[in-house]
Amino acid sequence: MSRLQVVSGKGGTGKTTVAAALALALATEGKRALLVEVEGRQGIAQLFETEALPYEERKIAVASGGGEVYALAIDAERALLDYLQMFYKLGSAGRALKKLGAIDFATTIAPGLRDVLLTGKACEAVRRRDKKNAYVYDYVVMDAPPTGRITKFLNVNDEVAGLAKFGPIHNQAQAVMRVLKSPETAVHFVTLLEEMPVQETADGIAELRAAELPVGKVIVNMVRPQLVDEQALRTAAGEQRTEVARALSRAGLGGAGRGGVAERLVEPLLEQAAEHAQRVELEREQRAALAQLDLTTYELPLLGEGLDLAGLYRLAAELRAHLGAERAGGTA
Ligand SMILES: Nc1ncnc2c1ncn2[C@@H]1O[C@H](COP(=O)(O)OP(=O)(O)OP(=O)(O)O)[C@@H](O)[C@H]1O
Ligand SMILES: [Mg+2]
Repeated sequence: MSRLQVVSGKGGTGKTTVAAALALALATEGKRALLVEVEGRQGIAQLFETEALPYEERKIAVASGGGEVYALAIDAERALLDYLQMFYKLGSAGRALKKLGAIDFATTIAPGLRDVLLTGKACEAVRRRDKKNAYVYDYVVMDAPPTGRITKFLNVNDEVAGLAKFGPIHNQAQAVMRVLKSPETAVHFVTLLEEMPVQETADGIAELRAAELPVGKVIVNMVRPQLVDEQALRTAAGEQRTEVARALSRAGLGGAGRGGVAERLVEPLLEQAAEHAQRVELEREQRAALAQLDLTTYELPLLGEGLDLAGLYRLAAELRAHLGAERAGGTA
């Protein structure tokens, strides 16, 4: 299991939710996971129903099984100060830069710089060791930018290493790329069983592969249950009026004849059933498209009534079952 788990996907498909559930799933048996957010929107704090996260790693949850989840909202400005500090021992000069607005200026003018700082910070957490030389975090899970930006985001240090041909910045950029291009990293894509997100997933994976970045798994989120069996689906797809009316009548809903209760229920029921059959068919097509990608695919159910903390733990349990099954299968 890679120690840096990057979660990307089309906007709104559940990246933040899946990243959080994955951190909870990995934090088992005393393991420690760090969940990092790079888009500065405090999605993690909202999800865990806590106040906004400061730029500081703090424990936000205890996973079932006793592991711990820490969270960090990486702030580009603070990360830049860390970075300058690391190379130039800036101290109070860093604060002066901040006052002057130099940092705002630098991160605004060079969007690439933001990404250098964000990925750099995440990789620092992956590599960090304690006094006993053990890793501080067993896993780092990143709630990453969406599919359209992920390859550029992860690859930015490659450019930097090319620009600064030697020296500390070159070395730092190379160290980051060494983590990101190694089996220590896995980049997952969250998708829905819908045409657009599936297409984006396929494109994103192709881009990632072209950049030689490690593709992880496809996580199909918000999967709705199939309510009826194949036979019933075929019935629903073709409009079997009389058959349905008779079935309703048998179920005690009045006579199947004209004007009876069962007769009046037939239209709306058939409509719903046809809709359902159509959706199942579309989902089947999208599943087939995903199968072409030849990657391990996990499915997570659509949880009704909004997603609360209990729902998050449920998704974590689902993910843990997937991970366990995979380990048992020997492909982890
Ligand atoms: N399995 C699920 N069941 C039900 N609701 C879900 C599920 N997964 C995510 N959601 C809900 O879908 C919405 C979008 O999820 P989330 O914020 O995780 O997506 P995102 O990809 O991070 O979005 P963005 O692109 O805006 O960052 C949220 O309201 C979340 O609670
Ligand atoms: Mg999000």
